[in-house]
Amino acid sequence: EQIMKGGYDHFMQKEIHEQPSALVETMRGRIALEVEDCSEGDGSECTLERQGSLKLLDSLDLLKEDGGGAEPLWRGATPRVKLGGLEPHAENILRSRRLIFVACGTSYHACLAARQVVEELTRVPVALELASDLLDRQAPLYRDDTCFFVSQSGETADTLNALQYAKRRGSLCVGITNTVGSSISRETACGVHVNAGVEIGVASTKAYTCQILVIVMIALKLSEDSISKGKRRNEIMRDLLRLPSMMRRVLREEGVIKNLARELAQETSLLAFGRGYNYATALELALKVKELSYMHSEGILAGELKHGPLALIDETMPAVVVATNDALREKMWSTIQQLLARKGRLVLLVSKGDDDILNYFNGEENDGRARIITVDTVCDCLQPILNIVPFQLLSYHLTVLRGFNVDQPRNLAKSVTVE
Ligand code: G6P
Repeated sequence: EQIMKGGYDHFMQKEIHEQPSALVETMRGRIALEVEDCSEGDGSECTLERQGSLKLLDSLDLLKEDGGGAEPLWRGATPRVKLGGLEPHAENILRSRRLIFVACGTSYHACLAARQVVEELTRVPVALELASDLLDRQAPLYRDDTCFFVSQSGETADTLNALQYAKRRGSLCVGITNTVGSSISRETACGVHVNAGVEIGVASTKAYTCQILVIVMIALKLSEDSISKGKRRNEIMRDLLRLPSMMRRVLREEGVIKNLARELAQETSLLAFGRGYNYATALELALKVKELSYMHSEGILAGELKHGPLALIDETMPAVVVATNDALREKMWSTIQQLLARKGRLVLLVSKGDDDILNYFNGEENDGRARIITVDTVCDCLQPILNIVPFQLLSYHLTVLRGFNVDQPRNLAKSVTVE
């Protein structure tokens, strides 16, 4: 077992640190560059060897240490996503009345994190369903709905039952699992394998970030023919390639996070606020903290702050705020102000270079009023992939400090095969 842990103390820690390469594996062979024919010119714009006009990006290019390493590859090339399993069904999926993502636990949070970009790129209404709730409600599903079943193990009973239910109603069923040959991958009409590698720790980490990545790639694939979305697609694709190196930089901050865990280890409760793309980050952080460290934790949509949660805030209550740079940053800044006004004990996740926030809290008056973690800025829809990492590390270290079993939390199973 020690050998399998590859020098780490626990599988969870190993799996957290495997994320840069898990992201590369998930993208491997799936990001293609269509290169202009440069046989006539001097070749200066042709930075890739040509293979026909389509060249699959070598995963080694993704692994380059400097974040911008992949940049020259983009000159004169059109990026495309290749998802073999999905391609024959892409048109049907796009013609659906609704796209419905069905999952449980952390996999559900991955769907929530990626929902907005699927809506934005496909313009098809996207619904999210917790598998058990879909079944409890016997929710209406139709032949012109496409249902995506997202599951790390591919064996979760609720998700599998929801899949059988959707099949009976004639919906097109797509599987997104991390396990080749799993029940969900066998029972669906088509699908995408996540390829994060085997995950052993009961709490899902690398599967989560790679599931978000896969759903973003699906959105890119489905919108491939939309000219109006071309610029946005290219922007997302360019940042996909930066993710692994940015993720590596987040992981280097483990020492900072460990110190933060020491400060929080004796707390009984922890709140987490996020909105937009990062509502999922707040929910997933709270889930990780509660399932592993047994500390009560709640993820809260920041837009709901005034509708109840604000009453919990005082100088003793730790409140984590995800306030990285995106279209909702101003609103998150206002959340921070409201929490400060109630003397909340803040832990902030902010973008590197966000001087307004950083200077505010470094200034004499507010010094020490918040603990701050910084991350690189990446395209908004990919930001949740980076943002969860400090919190995976936080829940890991909280659990170790509190003396609990990280890889096998009490009462939980890796794969829940009963309803
Ligand atoms: C269990 C695991 C979670 C996981 C959930 C859904 O509760 O402990 O980590 O997110 O099941 O599992 P799935 O394999 O369907 O993603």
